[in-house]
Amino acid sequence: MSHREPGPESGKLISDEQQWMAPGIQRLATMAGIAMESGQGCLLQDADGQTYLDFMAGVGVASLGHSHPRWAAAISSQAAKLSIGSFTSAPRLALLKLMASLLPEPLRRVQLYSGGSEAVEAALRLAKAHTKKFEVVAFWGGFHGKTGGVLPLIGDPFKQGWGPLAPGALLVPYADCYRCPLKTSYPGCGLACVDMARQQVEASSQGSVAALIVEPIQGTAGNVVPPPDWLPAIQQMAREIDALFISDEMITGFGRTGKMFAFEHSDVQPDMITLGKGFGGGFPVTAVVATETVAEESHPWSKPSSSSSSVGGNPLAAAAALATLETILEEDLVENSRVVGAHMLARMETWKERFPFVGDVRGKGLLLGCDLVSDRETKTPLPTKLTHKIYTECVRRGLLVMAYGARVRINPPLVISEEEADAGLDIFESVLADVAPEIG
Ligand SMILES: Cc1ncc(COP(=O)(O)O)c(C=O)c1O
Repeated sequence: MSHREPGPESGKLISDEQQWMAPGIQRLATMAGIAMESGQGCLLQDADGQTYLDFMAGVGVASLGHSHPRWAAAISSQAAKLSIGSFTSAPRLALLKLMASLLPEPLRRVQLYSGGSEAVEAALRLAKAHTKKFEVVAFWGGFHGKTGGVLPLIGDPFKQGWGPLAPGALLVPYADCYRCPLKTSYPGCGLACVDMARQQVEASSQGSVAALIVEPIQGTAGNVVPPPDWLPAIQQMAREIDALFISDEMITGFGRTGKMFAFEHSDVQPDMITLGKGFGGGFPVTAVVATETVAEESHPWSKPSSSSSSVGGNPLAAAAALATLETILEEDLVENSRVVGAHMLARMETWKERFPFVGDVRGKGLLLGCDLVSDRETKTPLPTKLTHKIYTECVRRGLLVMAYGARVRINPPLVISEEEADAGLDIFESVLADVAPEIG
């Protein structure tokens, strides 16, 4: 296993850039200490020519891997023709048609944006416009973006320091079974967390819940998979309070979990879904998709210029998303995600026997996670000093994986082969084995 240290070119680019770059860029980039030059498939090459296997995919963005030739060709040919404007264009029409063919019948009305938070904000505005109500239920551990309207929905201390936040957010427990907030266990619990959520809403709501928004699998929290009957129970809860049910599929959409959309793992029918990240394969394009009824009865969202944006769904964005979705279908990447993901998860299951500090492994498709703990009984998260060491050591051995926290996230590009997956897991296991003595 060859060793990589940040080379001189990376060092120079980073130190030059630091004169102007504002602080606060992604931890995974600053910690790695390398500048990137190029990428192809699941491999990235740094400015000094050293290669890395990518288990991050730009946090779920690189659905097709890096620089997929078909995607690159579609963007460059559209860029040479027409990029700008909100007039109807052939690629936008083709994109909407294709999306309609992938979604269940009532989800038909699409509005396009360029940022994930922007799309979630638009979904919430639409929910308020349709229901004429103003509260939103979201979940502990949840993440829906960093802009003003969605900050209050963040289900952890990340949102501290930006107050006062917009009122109306009601946060209730997610079914994070490994770290069950009720200290009970599934299925014996009878989904006690849903009862608690119901009571919490009852106690704190003003009786005006417009929507319940949920990640069908929580990404930022650590690729946390709820039990199969949880999402239907949550949808039922939304129906009881006459609130719209929104599935935020930003990370989970377009094959990431081994189905086209993660809500399809359960028997639910969202009123709206939000899409982004892997949707454009790296081009910034996101969307809200709503049922016909919700979108039609949505004044003032439906007023001219009320739901649109400057670059959302322009011909270039539409061509990029179209090429991404066509490639996902033609290369059968949803199935690849399911098959390679299952292979990886089976191998990860063995970690619980091999490494006493692996407390939990989980996942669906290529959205996989594990919890590193210093004590299995107490489930105390592994200290940051050690997880940072694991992360940096993975980078040095040529694997980019979101292992800088105790909840490790593994989400490679959907094009990954079983051989590449095994090569990455070999590296990760070698790092775990080498840090094991330090953990004790
Ligand atoms: C589920 C979910 N929703 C929304 C967002 C916000 O997307 P963006 O970073 O494009 O604003 C994210 C980003 O990680 C996300 O994971």
